[in-house]
Amino acid sequence: MPLSIEYRVSPTPESLALAAAEFFVASVEDAVRQRRRARVAISGGSTPKAMFAALASPALPFLARMPWEALDLYWVDERCVPPTDPDSNYRMTREALLEPLAKNLAALGRAFSAAQVHRIEAELAPEVAAARYESELRNSFRLEGAETPRFDLVALGMGPDGHTASIFPGTQAIYNFTELVTANEVPQKQTTRITLTWPVINQASRIFFLIAGADKAATLRAVFTGARDPDRLPAQLIRPANGILTLLLDQAAAAELPATDSNGRGTLLSR
Ligand code: 6PG
Repeated sequence: MPLSIEYRVSPTPESLALAAAEFFVASVEDAVRQRRRARVAISGGSTPKAMFAALASPALPFLARMPWEALDLYWVDERCVPPTDPDSNYRMTREALLEPLAKNLAALGRAFSAAQVHRIEAELAPEVAAARYESELRNSFRLEGAETPRFDLVALGMGPDGHTASIFPGTQAIYNFTELVTANEVPQKQTTRITLTWPVINQASRIFFLIAGADKAATLRAVFTGARDPDRLPAQLIRPANGILTLLLDQAAAAELPATDSNGRGTLLSR
């Protein structure tokens, strides 16, 4: 199926964070309208921090607007460290989203409970952490047999090397079609990471990449307009089953893509 890649370019880091928060909330609202619940998988790294801050801020509309009580939060991937480690995606999310959210929701008489947070227990041995997270997915999605979980939204980032989630160039996760979650050895980082596999990600109802910075411009061009080479550019594995992929970008990251229209929007078709 051809893939329609819709990219939206924001002029500043602040407006990118707001655009991402708006896409996030609108996606959750749609899911809750249709299914009364929303299951979202988020990525780590640094780019999502400003989006998380916007979602939790009492000064912006997203905090009151988001149906937090109907949301289940999962992670796309996690580093194999304790949840208190500076490298932990959970710790980043706790600091940038969960802690301010708890305080600011309480002021509204609302809460986002711990039961809605499905952390990857990456402090455990990698194979154990992957197996336990897969079990958590199967139980919380109430999967039968070989069913694949269908997230309502997956939020992805991309590294300058073309990795996404923890699917890095030349690693086994590129070829993993069978598991929901895998412990992926990443030699270039001298570590193992726990990650959703790309077939699971692609089943999501909506997927967006949140990408900022000039250091990603050339990779963005290669991934989304260049020759198909997912072993070198794993982000090319992300092809949503519904045929629509959204890129939320800042101007620096979008610098090598075709110019956008006057609304900062562009479309690429990928065969
Ligand atoms: C992680 C992420 C990873 C991230 C990219 C981009 O665990 O680091 O899941 O896939 O999205 O590395 O990271 P930045 O946002 O820090 O550039």
